[in-house]
Amino acid sequence: MRTFTPLRKIATLAATGVFALSLAACGASETPADGSSSAGAKLTVGFVAVGPEGGWRTANEENIKEAFKNADIELKYAPATNGDQNSQITAFTSFVDEDVDAIVLSATEATGWETSLKKAQEAEIPVVLLDRGIEPNDDSLYTSLIAPDNVGISAAAATWANARFPDGGNYVVLEGPPGLSVVNDRNKGWDATVESSLKKVGSQSANWSTEEAKSVFETMLKSKSNDIQLVFAQNDEMGLGAVQAVEEAGLTPGKDVKIITIDGTKNALTALSEGKLSFVAEYNPLFGEDAVAVVKKAVAGESVEKNIVVKSVTFDSPEAAKTALPERKY
Ligand code: AHR
Repeated sequence: MRTFTPLRKIATLAATGVFALSLAACGASETPADGSSSAGAKLTVGFVAVGPEGGWRTANEENIKEAFKNADIELKYAPATNGDQNSQITAFTSFVDEDVDAIVLSATEATGWETSLKKAQEAEIPVVLLDRGIEPNDDSLYTSLIAPDNVGISAAAATWANARFPDGGNYVVLEGPPGLSVVNDRNKGWDATVESSLKKVGSQSANWSTEEAKSVFETMLKSKSNDIQLVFAQNDEMGLGAVQAVEEAGLTPGKDVKIITIDGTKNALTALSEGKLSFVAEYNPLFGEDAVAVVKKAVAGESVEKNIVVKSVTFDSPEAAKTALPERKY
C-alpha cells in the first residue's frame, strides 16, 4: 500500500508537538471534533465540487459539507460552472496558491488533471478524490479515492437482469456524460456480466437528465417498434425519464419494459415500490465522514488506503423498497 506523506505537514506537526492521530480509514473518525492541525491552527480544505446535478449530487455534497463542519474544519466549497472542467481547474489552482491544507475533488471530467495534481503534489498538498476517478489512473498523483464500487454495482445489476431474462431479450443503456470514470466503470461491470442472450440494441448518453432520458428512450422505442424489454439507466433521474417514455408509448413500466437504475434516491425507491422501476442499486453518497478521516490522516502524515470503497446495497422488489423508504436519508 503506497502512501502520500506531505513532509511539510509532518514538520509543522513535529514543531508544534502535535501528535498524529490514528484514525479508522473508513467510517467515523476516533478523534475529537477539533479539526486543528496543531494547537489552535484550524485546517482549511478546498472542495472542488460538481455543483447542482441531481438528487444524488445534492445528497453527496450536503453530507460532505456537514461532515467537515462537524469536524470543525473549514471547507471552501467551489462548485463547477455548468459542469465545466475549466472552472474546476481554476478553483483547484486557486486552492493550491492559497496553500490550503488539503483538496477534495469530485471531477466533472476524468481526463486532464495531471498538471493540476502535480502542482498540488509539488506544494505537498494532499488531494483526495471523491466519487469520480481520473483517467489515466496514475494513483501516485493523489492520496486516495473514496467511492462506491461502480464496476461491482453495475455487475450486480447485470446479474439481476440475467436472472430476470433467462430467455434473453433486447435492452438499451442510458448513459451519463461521455468520458466520466463512473460511466466507463458502470459500462465495464455491466458488459462483463450481462449474458449474450440479452442483446444491446441501443446506448446513448442522456446526461443524468430525466427530461433528456425520456426523449432519448421515446426515440429508441419508436425505432425498435417497442421491441425493448429492458433499460439499464446509469442513474435514477434517467431511469425515471425512461418510465415516462414507456407510459407515453402506452406500455406498462415494470411489465412490458423493466428498468434498472443506479443511485438509490427516495424518488427511485418510491418508483420501485410502485412497480415502475424493477431494480435500484444504491450508489451510497454518504461518505463525508470517510473524507474527513482520510484528510485528517493525510495532513497528519499518516498512511491511508489508496482506494476506499463505500458500501452500497441493492433493492430488487416493491417490498424491499417499501421496507427501506422510511429509513432512507436521501
Ligand atoms: O458520479 C456519480 C453520478 O453523478 C451519479 O450516479 C449521478 O446521479 C450523479 O449525477
